[in-house]
Amino acid sequence: MKITIVSGSHRAPSQSEKVARYLESVITKENDNVEVYFYNLANNPLPLWDQSIWESDQTWIDRLAPIKEELASSDAFIFVVPEWHGMVPSGFKNFLLMFNRFELGHKPALITSVSSGIGGTYPVTELRMNSSKNNRLCYIPESLIIRNVEQVLNEDPKDNTEEEDSYYRGRISWCLDILVGYADALKAMREKITVHHDDYSNGM
Ligand SMILES: Cc1cc2nc3c(=O)[nH]c(=O)nc-3n(C[C@H](O)[C@H](O)[C@H](O)COP(=O)(O)O)c2cc1C
Repeated sequence: MKITIVSGSHRAPSQSEKVARYLESVITKENDNVEVYFYNLANNPLPLWDQSIWESDQTWIDRLAPIKEELASSDAFIFVVPEWHGMVPSGFKNFLLMFNRFELGHKPALITSVSSGIGGTYPVTELRMNSSKNNRLCYIPESLIIRNVEQVLNEDPKDNTEEEDSYYRGRISWCLDILVGYADALKAMREKITVHHDDYSNGM
């Protein structure tokens, strides 16, 4: 099973990347059959979407082809997104513009939102509300909100607030089990049903 993890912060380094790497370590340690494709939006590797993407521009084809291949062969996604001014960073929304139902459709996705304070709700609601109409991503009911992120999930226990850190570690492990369960279940569903229909290429 392949799981793509996207670290959605433009910053390098970022707390989102720290959390994303932690999730990668847990999901691979706890599942022998899981391999991870890690895509990092630090320093904006993708230019902003432009019209030439729809005009078969060769530079865009070459840029996106290797990523499309990784996403298309993935069974599930984990999006780690910071809350920036109460929003998902624009680079992550740009990422979502690049890929469609053939890469993402009818596959489970776990939203993991990150805040240095007590925020983190907005990215979850934003993604659930308006980021899956055409690509048919299936956000699972569980999501993670890592608050006070600088004090948790650090390698050195001295940098962590013990109670919060152990709560998050336990909850992350359980939540990733749920994601893997959905990945298995929806793979079977996609194999059974013709999920892509040319007459209904976009959602309503
Ligand atoms: C441009 C910008 C805007 C931010 N706005 C918010 C916010 O609205 N709510 C919040 O909880 N944290 C906000 N933060 C702080 C982030 O939660 C913090 O930087 C955290 O480490 C996650 O971002 P990172 O993955 O880029 O490190 C903001 C940070 C930046 C750089």
